[in-house]
Amino acid sequence: MTEYNYDDPIAITEDIYWIGFYDEAANMHCNPYLLIDGDEAVLFDPGSVPEFPIIMRKIIDLISPDKISLIVAAHQDPDVCANLPIVEDLIGRKDLKVAAHSNTVRLIHHLGLNSEFYAVDENDYRYTLKSGRVLTFHPTLYLHAPGAITTYDTKTKSLFSSDLFGAIDEHWSLFDSDRFPHDMDSFHQNYMPSNDVMRFGLKNIESLDIARILPQHGSVIDGDNVSIAINHLKNLRCGIDLLGK
Ligand SMILES: [Fe+2]
Ligand SMILES: [Fe+2]
Repeated sequence: MTEYNYDDPIAITEDIYWIGFYDEAANMHCNPYLLIDGDEAVLFDPGSVPEFPIIMRKIIDLISPDKISLIVAAHQDPDVCANLPIVEDLIGRKDLKVAAHSNTVRLIHHLGLNSEFYAVDENDYRYTLKSGRVLTFHPTLYLHAPGAITTYDTKTKSLFSSDLFGAIDEHWSLFDSDRFPHDMDSFHQNYMPSNDVMRFGLKNIESLDIARILPQHGSVIDGDNVSIAINHLKNLRCGIDLLGK
C-alpha cells in the first residue's frame, strides 16, 4: 500500500489537490480541495477554523493564494464555511466569488463576507473558468442541507460531493478505505434525512460520467467503486428511517 505524507498537499489527479489536515486522533477528517487551472484556481469547502493554518500553508506550497478566483461552498456548515472570512482576506482579490446555492447564500451571508456570491441556481448551474474549463453544479438538496450542491469538473470527470459519500473512520486514509463501502454508513445514517431523500438526490448525479468522487469527509472513491458507492447509498436506510417513524 502506498504511504502518503499527509503533511504535504496530495495530488488526487493532474491538477486537483487534497489540502486538508490529517489528525490521527480524529475519526472524522475534513477534505478541502484545490483545483489549479493554469493561472486560476478554485478552492472547495475550506471550512475549518482550527485547521485553517495548515490548509493555508498547503495552498501557499502550491500557488500564490491570489490565483484563487472562486471558492465553492457546498453548504453552510462550519466545517465548510467557517474560515471563509479569513480565507478571502488572505486571497485579497476584489473579484473573488463564492459559489453556492441561493439557499446557502442566504445563510452564509451572515459570515459578513466581502466577496460577491455566485448563486449557482441563478447561473444555469455552471461556471466557466478563463481557460474554458466548465464546472457544473448538481443539487443534492437536503443532503444534508437545503442548499447542498455537488460540483462536477468536466475536464477530469471528478465530482466534489461534499458531505454526500462522506465517511467517519477511525483508520482513515485518503485513498482505498479498507472498510469501503461501509465506511460511509454511520455518517449517512446520522446526517442524511432519509433513504427517500438520498435516492432523490442521487438521481441528479448518477447520469454523470464520474471518474472519481472527492467527498468532504472520508476517502476518495474512484473507478468501479463509484457505481458501488452510489448503489450502496441507494439502499442505505438513514435519518428518520431509523427512528421508527
Ligand atoms: Fe455538513
Ligand atoms: Fe461536512
